[in-house]
Amino acid sequence: MVKPKIAPSMLSSDFANLASEAERMIRCGADWLHMDIMDGHFVPNLTIGAPVIESLRKHTEAYLDCHLMVTNPLDYVEPLGKAGASGFTFHVEVSKDNWRELVQKIKSKGMKPGVSVRPGTPIEEVYPLLDDENPVEMVLVMTVEPGFGGQKFMPEMMDKVHALRKKYPSLDIEVDGGLGPSTIDLAAAAGANCIVAGSSVFGAPDPAHVISLMRKSVENAQTN
Ligand code: DX5
Ligand code: ZN
Repeated sequence: MVKPKIAPSMLSSDFANLASEAERMIRCGADWLHMDIMDGHFVPNLTIGAPVIESLRKHTEAYLDCHLMVTNPLDYVEPLGKAGASGFTFHVEVSKDNWRELVQKIKSKGMKPGVSVRPGTPIEEVYPLLDDENPVEMVLVMTVEPGFGGQKFMPEMMDKVHALRKKYPSLDIEVDGGLGPSTIDLAAAAGANCIVAGSSVFGAPDPAHVISLMRKSVENAQTN
């Protein structure tokens, strides 16, 4: 059975107090910290890069789950590896020609390789990366159009999660965008086990409660 991983998206945190926000999330029961790296080109928003990951790494031992919303993910492997990133998830839409090289480099830097799909991308596009002899180790199914926090969950993306879970029973399947108490059951029932949540966690009066509620939903779906 795949372990539930609850990953608050630090995009919704107070970036000016990133270290204490990270510590607060770990205290609230987070398994991973989701770090949204955007280049202002793949998506119309610009966030953080390796220097910020490096700074944060000095303050926490937590698993830093980096989501690369960038046009040239290969350029980020070396700097992020050095900075102390834990997971490196690139988008399949920009890696058609070099995903093998990407996966190999990510692993050689000691990071866990993942691949992500935008809402408009068919899930079949990640199958070759999973069936390869040097496969990716996580698939991130976007449940909003990447770029911003606080958007509405797209339930129609659950077909992708379901198809993946059926084909790959022990794969880490992550969902990202619009997850919270009102949408978690759908994602959990479809088979997602890694849950990214920004606004629903940071906007809650009791983030620990929201994290624990999402974990229970994933656990319940697995035992049913
Ligand atoms: C969106 C990012 C998400 C975002 C999720 O492009 O990839 O990680 O922070 O935020 P919420 O949970 O608020 O939709
Ligand atoms: Zn993300």
